[in-house]
Amino acid sequence: MNPLEEPGRTSRTIDPCVLVIFGATGDLTGRRLVPAIYQLGREGLLPSNFACVGFARRPKTDEQFRGELKEDIIAHSRTKPIDETFWQSFQEQIFYHQSDFDVDEGYQNLARRLSQLDTRHGTRGNRIFYLSVPPKYFPLIIEKLRKFNLIYDVRENEERWSRVIIEKPFGRDFASSAELQTSIQKNLHESQTYRIDHYLGKETVQNLLVFRFANSIFESIWNNKHIDHVQITVAEELGIGTRGAFFEEEGLLRDIVQNHMMQLVSLVAMEPPVNLSASAVRDEKVKVLQSIRPFTQSDFKENVIRGQYGNGYINGESVPGYRQEANVNPNSAVETYVAMRLFIDNWRWASVPFYLRGGKRLPKRATEIAITFKDAPGFLFQNYDRKIDPNVLAIRIQPNEGIALKINCKIPGPSSPIQPVKMDFRYGSYFGQSPPEAYERLIWDSMLGDNTLFARSDEVASSWKILTPVLEYWSNNRSEFPNYSSGTWGPANADEMIKKDGRTWRIL
Ligand SMILES: NC(=O)c1ccc[n+]([C@@H]2O[C@H](COP(=O)([O-])OP(=O)(O)OC[C@H]3O[C@@H](n4cnc5c(N)ncnc54)[C@H](OP(=O)(O)O)[C@@H]3O)[C@@H](O)[C@H]2O)c1
Repeated sequence: MNPLEEPGRTSRTIDPCVLVIFGATGDLTGRRLVPAIYQLGREGLLPSNFACVGFARRPKTDEQFRGELKEDIIAHSRTKPIDETFWQSFQEQIFYHQSDFDVDEGYQNLARRLSQLDTRHGTRGNRIFYLSVPPKYFPLIIEKLRKFNLIYDVRENEERWSRVIIEKPFGRDFASSAELQTSIQKNLHESQTYRIDHYLGKETVQNLLVFRFANSIFESIWNNKHIDHVQITVAEELGIGTRGAFFEEEGLLRDIVQNHMMQLVSLVAMEPPVNLSASAVRDEKVKVLQSIRPFTQSDFKENVIRGQYGNGYINGESVPGYRQEANVNPNSAVETYVAMRLFIDNWRWASVPFYLRGGKRLPKRATEIAITFKDAPGFLFQNYDRKIDPNVLAIRIQPNEGIALKINCKIPGPSSPIQPVKMDFRYGSYFGQSPPEAYERLIWDSMLGDNTLFARSDEVASSWKILTPVLEYWSNNRSEFPNYSSGTWGPANADEMIKKDGRTWRIL
């Protein structure tokens, strides 16, 4: 057995359990977690013996808490209207527990309450603790849970289990992430640790594995002989809105690049795993991150670009610059845009550049991976007035989830010009339903004890190892901000970075 995996939890049976949400009155719980749990329940995917306990500081009765959750579900559930009959019985399994995170008594009472639920609801001592709280509380809560025997030892043939889901961010850089990991692992085994990156719960991201390894036509050309370069774009129209204070601490590299974008890089570039177990898949992903060539001093100047939006127009409407947003320092040096070129030094990807760009207040919302193939030998069509376009395979993560392939075709008629056309597969129109929300899948997987779609500690560490030198360089070298207008595709030097390699940014 792999020492990083929980013993005996490999089958996809779902055990009875209690889900305890720390931070149950917070934004994430209301907008994402509770609608996801409701949806799972309505679709019959929760265990038949299930209870949910919300843990937070404000005093509240169970009835008040249930009423608030209902409002959240009405506002944020992906299926409308709310199923009133289902909700009436489901809410009986939901409870509120008031305590401060640092008060021992709160955990003693929680332990008693959970035992009562085991008796009443048949949840058999199985626990999931979802830490939807500011990261400074992770070590404290985990330590208290351990102290009051709410986290169990991981043992062979143990009847009951306990798992902890942790929200990002996992540290602010390599050193703080290592420190966080050291304090967590004193009380929690890696197999019990579920580090959530909601990108991994998206259907299109999971489909990357199926697309690559269940279709022989793609795998045989998925290498440096056939692929010219890879682009990953995570573009948002929105600015930082009400999250000014949060973003001032974070910046785009920590918020998007270190986690979501690095996950996409590793899924696109990984070798086929020996099987689909969590350890096999994550072993291959880590190898990719470990093969990324470290940035040099010249990269920091030319191949890692940061930007911050100034004022401008989005869909014809005037919007303020980042420094004019609420709770933002008027001289802020925080980046709202990052572009970078990186190389994966292994046999498959030698000398294939990966261009990453992510930003706020860009012209449209789009998360896309674009694989550009090498040019066909040009001699047959040399006489055309324009260069033949390369084939591009685009995997759209959001919106309009799907896959598109750009190929060249002859336009009908005697003059025979060539035109690129797009073959387009869209999940929504083909399968006739919107894909489940990422949190539905991830909460469900945590109940099954399957942590394939959660980040392992060495993945997090490897990603920070690549990116921490960038943060250090930035903190010692200020940039002239703002350097792009809202509603444009980012700073000019990001275009120059890719142009000097003879390429251009694209989304299909
Ligand atoms: N919101 C998002 O979209 C989002 C996205 C990705 C990751 N995250 C991460 O998810 C976590 C939660 O985010 P959030 O936006 O939901 O935070 P939030 O709205 O600020 O909620 C924080 C929650 O923690 C509780 N809390 C804070 N200090 C406490 C204490 N000392 N004792 C007991 N309860 C305490 C609050 O309870 P009271 O209200 O009762 O005080 C509240 O329920 C954060 O780590 C964040 O980085 C959030």
